[in-house]
Amino acid sequence: MRIFLDTAMPEEIRELADLIDGVTTNPSLVAKAGRPLREAVEEICRLVSGPVSVEVTATDAAGMVEEARELAGIADNVVIKIPMGREGIRAVKALEAEGIRTNVTLVFSPVQALWAAKAGASYVSPFVGRIDDRAGDGMGLVSQILQIYDNFGFDTEVIVASVRHVRHVVEAALLGAPIVTAPYAVVSKLFDHPLTTEGIERFLADWKRVPK
Ligand code: E4P
Repeated sequence: MRIFLDTAMPEEIRELADLIDGVTTNPSLVAKAGRPLREAVEEICRLVSGPVSVEVTATDAAGMVEEARELAGIADNVVIKIPMGREGIRAVKALEAEGIRTNVTLVFSPVQALWAAKAGASYVSPFVGRIDDRAGDGMGLVSQILQIYDNFGFDTEVIVASVRHVRHVVEAALLGAPIVTAPYAVVSKLFDHPLTTEGIERFLADWKRVPK
């Protein structure tokens, strides 16, 4: 399973760049980073060789395609995030036909994911955390999408997004989701366990008592 970092903060990406498999951003994350979009994307793409998702803000297909072409020109690893909807699906078809990879975002239902795959999207992003926030079943959605893609042999890859905690990562892995994108705070926790820390401390303390 590939692990992407869901952030536009260069300092967070720099810290984990050699370990993560890609990055996802969105307009809110770029706003949080407080830099012009192009400058932020250029830096992220210099730090990471895996896919870097960057979202368009146009709301009509023609505008999305125009914006996407410009963003895709920044670096070879840019993937264009397209919000789900009729206009978005039209844009995905056009962009994938010209070889620009897309990631259909803000997906909350299995049929939305079906449309994304039918349009030839490279990635689809179901937002599990936002569903769970409303007492829904985010991982249930992921499971349905994986089943549907398997039924029809779609190549679109599922990126489990809007991850809130480590348990989401565990559940995504158990379902066999190919990719999870998580914020820095969650990805950092994937390395740790209190018993590991305690064990290392004890081994190092004992090692000091070994005659040299
Ligand atoms: C995914 O690509 C999005 O950037 C992100 O996961 C959204 O997460 P949020 O629900 O925490 O905003």
